[in-house]
Parts: sequence; C-alpha cells; structure tokens
Amino acid sequence: MDTDVFVTQPIPQPGLELLRRAHPGFRINSEERVLERAQLLEEVRGAAAILALLTDLIDAEVLDAAGGRLRIVANMAVGFDNIDLQAASARGIMVTNTPGVLTDATADLAWALLFAVARRIPESERFLRAGRFRHWGPLLFLGADIAGRTLGIVGAGRIGSAVARRARGFDMKVLYCNRSPRPQLETELGARRTSLEELLREADFVSLHLPLTPETRHIINARALALMKPTACLINTGRGPLVDEAALVEALAAGRPAGAALDVFEREPEVHPGLLARDDVVLTPHIGSATTSTRARMAVMAAENLIAGLRGERPPNLLNEEAWERKRPRE
Ligand code: GLV
Repeated sequence: MDTDVFVTQPIPQPGLELLRRAHPGFRINSEERVLERAQLLEEVRGAAAILALLTDLIDAEVLDAAGGRLRIVANMAVGFDNIDLQAASARGIMVTNTPGVLTDATADLAWALLFAVARRIPESERFLRAGRFRHWGPLLFLGADIAGRTLGIVGAGRIGSAVARRARGFDMKVLYCNRSPRPQLETELGARRTSLEELLREADFVSLHLPLTPETRHIINARALALMKPTACLINTGRGPLVDEAALVEALAAGRPAGAALDVFEREPEVHPGLLARDDVVLTPHIGSATTSTRARMAVMAAENLIAGLRGERPPNLLNEEAWERKRPRE
C-alpha cells in the first residue's frame, strides 16, 4: 500500500507533481477552502504525512487523530504558529517550514503597503472609482513623504532585513530592534539597533517582522501605540496577533498613529469592523507571499520536505531536531 499522504488544500502544480511522482496515491482536499475542524480530524486519520497550510491548526488533537503512523507535518509557510511544535516533538513527529523562498515577495508587499498607506492609494482610488474626481486640487489627498524619513524594523530576520535593504533606494534612516545585533545591516545601511520603545518613538514607518510566540503576541498594544508619532504609520505583514487590533482601532481614532497597513489579522479571515470602517487603514487578505513563482517554490519546498521525511532522510527545513532524534519508525 502506498504511504498515506494528505494535502489539506490544492497547492501550486509543481509541488503536486513532485508528490505525485513520489506518492502517486496521495489524498487531497480538492476544494479551495479551509477544512472544518471535524473534517480535518477525519481526513488526517491514518496519514503518515500531512502537507498543511498556515490556516490549518495542527495541535495535539489532530496529531492524535492521525494516529501512530504520522511521521511528518510539512507546513507550506515560513511561519509555523499554527502547529503545536512541542506536541509534535513529544510524539516524534517532524515539522518543517518553507523559509527563504518568500523573503523577497513578502518584503515587496511590506513596501507596497508602506506606499499605499503613505500616499493614500486605495482611498484615492475608491474616490476616483466613485466618480468623485472632478479636478486636480492643491489639497487633494495629501499624504506623507517617504524619502528621507525613518523606517523602523521590528524583528530583523530574513524578511525584516530585506525590507530594511529596500530603504536604501529612498535614502531612509533605518532603525531596527532585534534580539541580536545585525552588524551587516549596520555596515551596509548605517542601520541602528534600538529598543522597541525608542524605535516606536522615532520611526515614521514601523514594520513588523516577528514570529508569533507567546512573548510577541500583542507586542503592539495600547502602550506601544501611544509611543508612536502622530504622523507615523504601522505596517504588519507578519502575523495578526502581534497587534492588539482593538487597541489599534482606538489609537487610530485618537489620531496616533496616523495610519496602518495590514496584511494579517488577529482572527483571520475576520477583520475588526473598526478597521474596516477607517479610510486611513489599508487592508489586504494575507497575500505577503502571493506571487506565482514564490508560491510555486513554497509548494515544491514543502513537498521536498515531506518526501525526504517519509524516505527516512532528515528534511532540509526541519524545525524540531528532537523529533528527528526520536523519530517514529517507518510503517
Ligand atoms: C505566510 O504568512 C507564511 O508564514 O509563509
């Protein structure tokens, strides 16, 4: 019998082709929608490998529903806060992600959002489409300057650093806060490492690039928002719960910060109605890595991790070394 592989949703063809070659009998939820919890629990039963998406909550219950054959969960995302890594490690189940291949696409989107909120692009487009553009106006849609301003990077990992590097073209001053110094950013860009407080006080654009952990949840809360300049904008392409959305709605209403551009939300796909109601907020539906070639590379990477894990090889993007050490025997 072919090893049971379950894919939770259609992914780009190059990933599916790899899977088809290695595991021709793989199963897939062929509808383009997130499986209901009960369906997920049912579908994973007996699987040796699951190719999951960031929208699938893979916790102890799902791992146990899969049963004793499950050896690997390959997430098609760089973030893996949807997976209970500890529960997987405790059961000897390997977990992998797709780092690196989506760095540029996500950094590009952070900049697209920065421009969009600074220059009020979605708002002015709505105005035009509504037939309200009657003449050029000296006061029409005045926005914020970008060139020469200060960019604050919260979390200078791969994506945060790529966002920082793009600031070179706009003569921006770059501040960053990160657990460890990034000497290359300092020499390349003259970037300066600061505390989060100092960054929030000084930056004109604050861009979030932290993984979501219990420590980073709501790192941008009412207190943090109150430190921002009244003219500053917040950009989030990381994970929604980094920001306390209710606090952000209140802060925007109070005029500090001036705007926000968000690709991720606390309770996706729900968006706080207070954000939907505001013109000074730009909203996109979690499309950071959504380019054709990036998603294809992510799918291939996830498939390669899964195939390697099932072959008994150490998957290239293994997140839990403990699981490799005490990995489950092949069926
Ligand atoms: C996208 O959000 C990812 O983590 O890959």
